[in-house]
Amino acid sequence: MTSKQFINAILSEQQSDGSLPVLEGTLGPRAVDIQTLYARHGLLAFDPGFRSTAACKSAITFVDGDQGVLLYRGYPIEELAERSNFVEVAYLLMHGDLPSPAQRKEFDQAIGVHNLLHEQVLAFYRGFRRDAHPMAVMVGVVGALSAFYHDVIDMRNPGDRGKAAIRLIAKMPTIAAACFTYSIGRPNRYPDNGLDFSSNFLQMMFGVPSEPYRVDPVLARALEVIMILHADHEQNASTSTVRLAASSGANPFACIAAGIASLWGPAHGGANEAVLHMLAEIGTVENIPKAMARAKDKNDPFRLMGFGHRVYKSFDPRARVVQAQAKKVLSHLGIDDPLLNIAMRLEEIALKDEYFIERKLYPNVDFYSGILLRAMGFPLNMFTAVFALARTAGWVSHWLELQHDAHGIDRPRQLYVGPALRHYPPRS
Ligand code: SDX
Repeated sequence: MTSKQFINAILSEQQSDGSLPVLEGTLGPRAVDIQTLYARHGLLAFDPGFRSTAACKSAITFVDGDQGVLLYRGYPIEELAERSNFVEVAYLLMHGDLPSPAQRKEFDQAIGVHNLLHEQVLAFYRGFRRDAHPMAVMVGVVGALSAFYHDVIDMRNPGDRGKAAIRLIAKMPTIAAACFTYSIGRPNRYPDNGLDFSSNFLQMMFGVPSEPYRVDPVLARALEVIMILHADHEQNASTSTVRLAASSGANPFACIAAGIASLWGPAHGGANEAVLHMLAEIGTVENIPKAMARAKDKNDPFRLMGFGHRVYKSFDPRARVVQAQAKKVLSHLGIDDPLLNIAMRLEEIALKDEYFIERKLYPNVDFYSGILLRAMGFPLNMFTAVFALARTAGWVSHWLELQHDAHGIDRPRQLYVGPALRHYPPRS
């Protein structure tokens, strides 16, 4: 069979000797099922970076990068950001449908029961330097939770799995806020279950024991929107990390700690912090042309952080929503942030620049989120911690979904390019 015949056979709709089935999902591109490719043809598919690889079937989130579409369980992100809240979205991602009032009440109560940290977990913070990056602390503390809950989780028991997922969603704000209060030597605050999820996180972050904390409803709503936008994003690097770790049957807390580690990278969740560093480095609108030239220079590692996306080759639908929230919060607080002016001018210039147009590079969710978080009082090194707090809803939803995926452990192959067989030289 010639390679052309082979390729035609692979893509044929009918199952014959050489062909491979073509799978169709609800939305998005079809997939050639190559699971038997090696067994039947002795061939591997080569796809570093997984640009053309569907690693699993999932019903949680759909992204159409060409149309700038993002759906959580079928609901457009714009509608959820406008009308929902983070806890409802977390329930939707985990369970597949919006909660009834009774289900929502039960979910809220479960989060309220599990948002405290074991006092010995709080003791872990004292092992870190005060200036430790919050993401380093979160990786360590979330991973340490496996030591506290390992023997109480029967992974075969759906109830235990659901409780582990809720424990993670509930504890992340407490863990993240404690990273910040520890870093400035302020006593950590306990959750207040009289507040909603976002207001509770804000009071743990910015409240002081000696004063009552007044929630600013504009900031609380902006945080809800940020967390809804960051809650999930199909098979991104950190979610794929969680799924790969989970495929071995690892403890869910350890799997989420692996996801936090992956999210920290500047090419992924660390980009929101990197955008602020970049804007500060550019410094003025007049310096934008020089920055653009550096971004296009292959010999210069400088990139326009917050621009480009592996999947979105048009606008990231989240970027527009974050930009609107940033403008609203800055106006509400009466802040004229020069970095926002640089960011908006930079976007305007880049979107008209041939290099960016040709490569379909648009602002992504991280381009404005840092400006919004900074306006709300979050220090730069907490931006990705807020992203991790939100993405925990997606991570645990994918972890739960994977428990029903019977394909077993994920074990990619490779194209070996190392030395052929050789023997150890005889002793002289
Ligand atoms: C997130 O996957 C997800 O869903 C992630 C995320 C989520 O919600 O989980 O959406 C969150 O991580 C958003 C992305 C945040 N990262 C950044 O903003 C960092 C800056 N962006 C780049 O690092 C880059 O755009 C990536 C990593 C985001 C995407 O990289 P790709 O798809 O691998 O793109 P590429 O490297 O193939 O680039 C194609 C071309 C290259 O030029 P050529 O070699 O073709 O000449 O575009 C260039 C790149 O050099 N390019 C950029 C650029 N991004 C790509 N040039 C300048 N500035 C940039 N930001």
